[in-house]
Amino acid sequence: MYCVRRVSDDIYWVGGSDRRISLFENIFPVPRGVSYNSYLIMDEKTVLLDTVDHSISRQFIENITHVLKGRKLDYIVVNHMEPDHCAVIGDIILRYPDVKVIGNAKTFQMIDQFFGDMKYDPVVVKEGDTFNTGRHNLNFVMAPMVHWPETMVTFDDVTGTLFSADAFGTFGALDGTIFADEVDFDRDWLDDARRYYTNIVGKYGAQVQTVLKKAANLDIKMICPLHGPIWRENLGYIIEKYDKWSKYEPEEKGVVIAYASMYGNTENMANVLANILAEKGIKNIRVYDVSNTHVSQLVSESFKYSNIVLASPTYNGGVYPIMENFIADIKALNLQNRDIAVMDNGTWAVTAGKFIVNKINEMKNMRVIEKIFSVKSAMDESQYEEINEFAEMIISSLNN
Ligand code: FEO
Repeated sequence: MYCVRRVSDDIYWVGGSDRRISLFENIFPVPRGVSYNSYLIMDEKTVLLDTVDHSISRQFIENITHVLKGRKLDYIVVNHMEPDHCAVIGDIILRYPDVKVIGNAKTFQMIDQFFGDMKYDPVVVKEGDTFNTGRHNLNFVMAPMVHWPETMVTFDDVTGTLFSADAFGTFGALDGTIFADEVDFDRDWLDDARRYYTNIVGKYGAQVQTVLKKAANLDIKMICPLHGPIWRENLGYIIEKYDKWSKYEPEEKGVVIAYASMYGNTENMANVLANILAEKGIKNIRVYDVSNTHVSQLVSESFKYSNIVLASPTYNGGVYPIMENFIADIKALNLQNRDIAVMDNGTWAVTAGKFIVNKINEMKNMRVIEKIFSVKSAMDESQYEEINEFAEMIISSLNN
């Protein structure tokens, strides 16, 4: 049976959620599932904004059939060509052969790449073009690299509705409540929203800033993303988060201690440091074992907090591989503007710290505390004063 909700007078949410998926993009764990949002405008012309992932195509087809109530579908706007949103375009064209497909030049290049010789009727739009559906007036705004090069967003300047593609999306299935004001977003969704943004779009902060500047000129009253809740109240909350994330500004002062440990000795160093920081009054401390924490979570926490401590054993003369992967990931995602402290360990040679510092120094605007706190095999009381001073250096950078 259909499973839809009305978004506003004649705009319907016709998407759905997948709770069977374990890995989004076959990389990111999504224990709360994910939603694929699609919107249908029932105006003088009927217009579908994006489709959904294959996994929920049956529900999707039932939804649009129900909302159309026997009318034909006149247009599809393709804001984003990643297959979690474009997978069902072919099915739609088969069911509604007269439908016209609205996209930009890059959209159609990608449609041809994905769908080969599929026949369709294209309407090519570019930045600033508009399309009137009757009561609504759709404006097309290019948003390259948010998250793919062809991405655009569509703004209805009559209702102030922004169909924002991946922007302002989040991991997590929708539980009937499709609006952010129907849930406790800060408590239940923000961590997933951050993990989604930082891992999927995090690399493209400059491009997100460009889109935010364009958006600042629009009178936006509602944001309809392709994943997660729709925003119709308190839009400034999520826009401010995006502004911070895309400028690589930490949301909070705090210390993430990410450690790798084979036999518990580097773990002990991390715990001792955490205790000293706490005793000195620092409250925002998060300690993670990189071997037991998905890297997407580590990335998300690194975007959230101001200070990061990296603790690694020496492995094959270098850095423990899982730690190396984490550092490579935050570098690839362009994380900047953090204070970093490094701890290392080794039994016959202690070199991991030097490698970590070199890697961090390849990143932009990272400040590395000069001292590396090193341990040979296992820490003992003789090093207490030294780690105490190390903690003081971290606190001093935290307070600056
Ligand atoms: Fe949700 Fe970039 O696709």
